[in-house]
Amino acid sequence: MNHSSIRHLIEPEDFTKEEILKVVKLGEDMYNDPSKYSDICNGKILASLFYEPSTRTKFSFDSAMLRLGGNLIGFADANTSSAKKGESIADTIRVMGYYADIIVMRHPKEGAPKLASMYSEVPVINAGDGGHQHPTQTLTDLLTIKVYKGQLENHTIAFCGDLKYGRTVHSLIRTMARFNAKKFILISPEELQLPSSLKRQLLDQYDIEIEEVRYLEEVVEQIDILYMTRIQKERFFNEEDYLKLKNSYILTNDKLENAKDDMIIMHPLPRVNEISYEVDDNKRAVYFEQSKLGVYVRMALISKLLEVGPYVRG
Ligand code: NCD
Repeated sequence: MNHSSIRHLIEPEDFTKEEILKVVKLGEDMYNDPSKYSDICNGKILASLFYEPSTRTKFSFDSAMLRLGGNLIGFADANTSSAKKGESIADTIRVMGYYADIIVMRHPKEGAPKLASMYSEVPVINAGDGGHQHPTQTLTDLLTIKVYKGQLENHTIAFCGDLKYGRTVHSLIRTMARFNAKKFILISPEELQLPSSLKRQLLDQYDIEIEEVRYLEEVVEQIDILYMTRIQKERFFNEEDYLKLKNSYILTNDKLENAKDDMIIMHPLPRVNEISYEVDDNKRAVYFEQSKLGVYVRMALISKLLEVGPYVRG
């Protein structure tokens, strides 16, 4: 089955730059004046199918739909669904489309939400597929950058930590390239470097400098946006490798001494050890605000895909 006219968000490239900007702008307006939008999803249902753990993505989507006046169904533990009995994603999605108007899906297998979208009669949103992509975290990140840095273009952005398995990094770096980043700095241990195919793609398609280093201290004074990430324990093949790398980075105020005054520190969260609690009070830390903004940009995304609200009415 192929419902080709329905729009989905499986990876950031599914939206044009103009569409991304429009969602980010609407998200900003929803943040500033949410009451204007409190009933645009009346009578609509969002289904969230989470085959992997989540706090922020799951509950910010729930909160977004409720703030738009809509309703929720779904599961946060696939063991309570028929997946446990062996049902395929294709069958689950076909049926969920009868019960809901829009589906949000997180899955440990790369490509699962893409497959779901091919069988779905309603829009499907990828809420993270394995170590692959996380486009709604990217929208959250873009709104955060817009709010704190004024514009999306021309920043030196450093990604620090698990660049190999970190799906938030994979989605954001490609998108920042589309928005004319000035420079990318990749900070990771050798074992967790950005996949070479992605690096190749960035170098081939864009004229953006990429510098790779092992330690933050080597580059800290250059950075406009520092994007910290968690070492993705669940993607390692063995515990020993994880244990060796788990404390590769621990950000402290000391290490920020030479940072620009207006540098911002982002993190998709959850953090484990990579940012000390003392940094929470540093004026550059915006990661909690970032997770707050995620609700509003998801409200904007739901409004776009369901074609409801002022966004669509023009
Ligand atoms: C991220 C994820 O699930 O990829 N979390 C999130 O959605 N905010 C990052 C992570 O789990 O490390």
